[in-house]
Amino acid sequence: MSAGIPDRASALALLESWVENEGLRKHMLAVEASCRYYARIHGEDEDLWGTAGLLHDLDWEKYPDEHPRRGLAELEDRGYPDAILQAIKSHAPERTGVDPDSLLDRVLFACDELSGLVYACCLVRPNGIDDLKPKSVTKKLKDKSFAAGVNRDDVTRGVELLGIERSEHIQNVIEGMRNIAGVLGVRAEDRL
Ligand SMILES: [Fe+2]
Ligand SMILES: [Fe+2]
Repeated sequence: MSAGIPDRASALALLESWVENEGLRKHMLAVEASCRYYARIHGEDEDLWGTAGLLHDLDWEKYPDEHPRRGLAELEDRGYPDAILQAIKSHAPERTGVDPDSLLDRVLFACDELSGLVYACCLVRPNGIDDLKPKSVTKKLKDKSFAAGVNRDDVTRGVELLGIERSEHIQNVIEGMRNIAGVLGVRAEDRL
């Protein structure tokens, strides 16, 4: 456990007490896994980055109109570190007026929408995430009628914020999500 961050079990318990929707829970877990993967690549604190991903949509189900303010107030009360609060604030710049700045901010923003697209791609493939390649995701990214709820502009902005190739970012999100594929139910064997 990292200093200053409530442990994962309590973060998960908090999530489960606020979020009932299974799809939203999976979304938050997928973003957590993606952020953890990026933390590993950059030699950063996996628990810190993962927790930001895990809790970024804490209030989305209960207080959609006040997202992410209500969640932030709760996390602040519970003593979550500033880096996490800042990242959550900046994942919704159109609501908070705060743009992503730190590397964690940018990673969270970039993984948020893209993980949803990757998840949707897994669901329409016989082998799920097992053999999913960036090329297939890119194809679906360009097909605007597929997973229409995924904001393509935000995906593009996320890639720009990271300053890496789009295919590399997609690969990283796939790798991160693969680490919890069983939990997400996106493996071939989950289809049986
Ligand atoms: Fe959000
Ligand atoms: Fe989200």
